[in-house]
Amino acid sequence: MNAATETTYTTVCRLDQIEVEGGVAALVDGEAVAVFRTHEGEVFAISNYDPFSRASVLARGIVGTRGDIPFVASPMYKQAFDLRTGQCLDDAAVRVPTYDVLVTDRVVSVGRKRESP
Ligand code: FES
Repeated sequence: MNAATETTYTTVCRLDQIEVEGGVAALVDGEAVAVFRTHEGEVFAISNYDPFSRASVLARGIVGTRGDIPFVASPMYKQAFDLRTGQCLDDAAVRVPTYDVLVTDRVVSVGRKRESP
């Protein structure tokens, strides 16, 4: 085992506790993370912080798809973020952090913040 690459996962909740096309907010290592479950059953974790409204609200956003991109639209000013990358879909300059997420035995855990691509 290599300590440098070892990832600690924080248990967030059971999968059933996230509505389909819904999100939950969780505190992971002191950071506000929003965890979403898509219609297809995929689970994604991005920062809960909406850079446009400067509030931790993304977990309460609307989940949907644009083409085949799963996104969440901020409940404040409706900007949409790609759940896979955190990229704002209409503003190439804006991206929110994403996190590794793991679903084991229908329990959802969030790992480390991903490096920006
Ligand atoms: S969706 Fe409009 S600025 Fe991002």
